[in-house]
Formats: sequence, structure tokens, C-alpha cells
Amino acid sequence: MASVTDDLRRLADDMLETMYEAPGIGLAAPQVAVMSRMVVADCETGEDAKPRPIVLINPQVIWTSEERSVYDEGCLSLPEHYAEVERPAEVEVEWMDLDGKTQREKFDGLWATCVQHEIDHLDGKLFIDYLKPLKRQMITRKMQKLKRELARA
Ligand code: NI
Repeated sequence: MASVTDDLRRLADDMLETMYEAPGIGLAAPQVAVMSRMVVADCETGEDAKPRPIVLINPQVIWTSEERSVYDEGCLSLPEHYAEVERPAEVEVEWMDLDGKTQREKFDGLWATCVQHEIDHLDGKLFIDYLKPLKRQMITRKMQKLKRELARA
């Protein structure tokens, strides 16, 4: 991707709106059925926190800490399901911003978990793929049942 098109800018706006409305802390383009390598996130969840919406185009994890942390993760693609997932506690990520500039930043805490979770979406990977088979099957079956119910509605 050499330049940022108006379509991409519009997609970023739409995705941020969808994410805040959900409400969620991150969203990846494939979740809204767009096959672009774009992610939006805002993990400033504290009550007095200033919003910090970020848009990552073609994000790549270029460094991970040896230290790991566990978060109870959820996903807008799997409503109402949460599970503990262990990931590197800190990651350094490189991406292109909406001005076409390369950005590089180290994330920790919730930001680190969220950014890794969203980048996984770009590769078709969900947080349930980290779970033990039995727990994963349980969630998958429930989701299939829900989809059948919605298809009938
Ligand atoms: Ni997700």
C-alpha cells in the first residue's frame, strides 16, 4: 500500500464509529467484511481518560517482550464470550498512519493485548484459537447455534 486513499480514510472513520458504538476498544477491517489490513483502537478506558483513537494501516509486530501477561479477552465478533489469553506483555509495532507516515510505538498493558488481538484478525485468527480445544469447541458451537437462530429471524 503506497498511499492512503479517501476510501481508506472513510473506512477508518466508519470503523472508529462502529467500535465506539459497540462499545469496544479495537476493531479490524475483516470484522466489518473489508479485506484491508487496517486496525483501529482506543484503549484509554479510564473514567477521566482522554480518548486516543488510533488507526494502524498494515501493522506489524516487530518486537515482543519475553514477559507475558494474561487478559480476559472478548471480541466484537464473538459477542458475550470471554476467555483468558496469554500474550507478550509488551510489543513494538510499526504501521502506516492516515498521513502515509510510518509510525513505530511500544505498547504495554491493555494496549499491547488489544493491538495483538486486532492484528490477529488481519490473519483470520481469533482469541479462541489460543484456547484449549474443549473450551474453543464450546464457544464455537454456541456461536453456530446463535448464527442459525439469527438466520431464522
Ligand atoms: Ni476481536
